[in-house]
Amino acid sequence: MMPTTPHLETIAVHAGMGGLTESGVHVPGIDLSTTNPLGGVESGGDSYENLATGGTLVPGESAVYQRLWQPGVARFETALSALEGAEATVAFASGMAALAAVLIATVAAGKPHVVALRPIYGGTDHVLATGLLGTTVTWVDAAGVRAAIRADTGLVILETPANPTLELTDIRAVADAAGEVPVLVDNTFATPVLQRPIDSGATLVLHSATKFLGGHGDAMGGTVSGPADWARRLRQVRALTGGILHPFGAYLLHRGLRTLPVRVLAQQATAAEIAGRLLGHPALARVHYPGLPGQDPQGLLGRQCGGAGSVIALDLAGGFDAAVRFTEACRLITHAVSLGGVDSLVQHPASLTHRPVEAGARPAAAVVRLSIGLEHVDDLMADIVAALDLATLGLVPVSTDDLMATRNS
Ligand SMILES: Cc1ncc(COP(=O)(O)O)c(C=O)c1O
Repeated sequence: MMPTTPHLETIAVHAGMGGLTESGVHVPGIDLSTTNPLGGVESGGDSYENLATGGTLVPGESAVYQRLWQPGVARFETALSALEGAEATVAFASGMAALAAVLIATVAAGKPHVVALRPIYGGTDHVLATGLLGTTVTWVDAAGVRAAIRADTGLVILETPANPTLELTDIRAVADAAGEVPVLVDNTFATPVLQRPIDSGATLVLHSATKFLGGHGDAMGGTVSGPADWARRLRQVRALTGGILHPFGAYLLHRGLRTLPVRVLAQQATAAEIAGRLLGHPALARVHYPGLPGQDPQGLLGRQCGGAGSVIALDLAGGFDAAVRFTEACRLITHAVSLGGVDSLVQHPASLTHRPVEAGARPAAAVVRLSIGLEHVDDLMADIVAALDLATLGLVPVSTDDLMATRNS
């Protein structure tokens, strides 16, 4: 018998797929139309006005213009709303476009002050620190949220697990401290498979969909999920500033959601194994991974978050030089920015993702960030251990081709 409420895996596969059978297809098509025929001057104008002010498409009416409404984007939004337990989702061309829309809407509401918890993704830090979009910011830790709220505070922003060193924040405690002020949680690292921030009191959930949601490193996008009134404001910002997700990106991201639970759990299992095996390695001063003993002092794993995820940060005992040598010595693991895909990546946050962050708040120069993919754990361990040896000894590594040629030999 079908359960009354489907499980997350079932939602991931089926959400946003309505009406396909009636159309005689098994997967949604990709509609690339930038414009749509209008039923008449009056009805076309009415639909334009509805969509440009943040409304949703009225069935039977024209979608008018791709910047205002796109059916594949709407399908992806429906699916993600179901996974996040949100009333609505608005999808953008990137995670930063999604964040920018939230900040524009916050300023437009006359409350430009943002309370932000560090550490947080370097791009988020950068846009807040520069005040580029008209916001002002007070940086706090979780304990400082209540005291930092002012009459003009329009938003509290946090990320958990946080980029790049995976600190966990108690969303419920921050939401309580924020009172009436909306709390936005960047859920990029955990995904709704491990954590649903709205269930813990968050108002808005942000994703760089470019990461786990797509999962294959070939689609850029960003999302904000939350209440219907926020979605309306964000759709208006999107319509007027032009940051809508491309239909092909929407197709790939929606397809990515279907395997999200399987990928997230498999990648997490490998990451947990690697983090455990690296503990005590002489080249490492510390392994940052919330699933390791002592790294979840508030007991948030299992309560707020179903697991520690698949990003690990390593603190090289040899400092910056060793971190650079390690990053450049990885062969199976690609030296590249981003995370959450099926292939493992390594990067040096202080030089790259967190480069714009002011010196005192920047990640330590000895820290490297690993995003663990779907490769076999032993192959990843072999690459990491070889790179650690080379980082320590300063030897020259073999090429990736040479490494792959040794496979099964
Ligand atoms: C946690 C987090 N949030 C937001 C972003 C920004 O997303 P995008 O690169 O899709 O604009 C990133 C990108 O790295 C990220 O890691």
